[in-house]
Amino acid sequence: MTALRSPLRVAVLASGGGSNLQAITDYLDGLGDAGAARVVLVASDRAGAGALQRAARMNVPGVVLSQPTDGPALEALLSANRIDLVVLAGYLKLVPAEITRRWAGRIINIHPALLPKFGGAGMYGKRVHAAVIAAGETESGATVHQVNDEFDRGAIIAQERVAVVPGDTPETLAARVLEAEHSLYPRTVQSLALELSRTPR
Ligand code: GRF
Repeated sequence: MTALRSPLRVAVLASGGGSNLQAITDYLDGLGDAGAARVVLVASDRAGAGALQRAARMNVPGVVLSQPTDGPALEALLSANRIDLVVLAGYLKLVPAEITRRWAGRIINIHPALLPKFGGAGMYGKRVHAAVIAAGETESGATVHQVNDEFDRGAIIAQERVAVVPGDTPETLAARVLEAEHSLYPRTVQSLALELSRTPR
């Protein structure tokens, strides 16, 4: 009988509505004991973020990051909560380099395009989808990647493709990509957690 390891403790950092937070939490809950991770903390740079309201509804502790650039404060928060894996989900601040270095391999992000194209500083939200459409791309999608000290430049972990259809607006494409995110991110968190739980910290 292999000892069931307790699920990895996940902190989600989010600046916005938190639909990816919701998708990840719902998916892991649905796995029951097979879930290899559990969201135990939600942190946001915005006190009014929908992600914090979702956390409250799910009885997950929520914290406002008053100084998102303060690496030591973020590190203290993560270690106080015995975090094993950091998941950025619509987090718009650059994570301090000391954190991305210390958490290398255990901090991930989702980007609403097929990196390495259409990524980098300033490429977020509708701007991404407008750029994809303007470039005449026939497909787009979502990318889960490791986080390093440059926006959207970490190693790619997983991608899910969607079609760009004639007549697409940034809004219609964003909605199609978001659906892909909600499918891709939870599964990627689960598979990465399984992998990490096999490797000693
Ligand atoms: C998503 O489009 C994600 O790709 C990007 O920010 C958005 C987050 O949305 N990083 P939500 O807050 O998870 O609903």
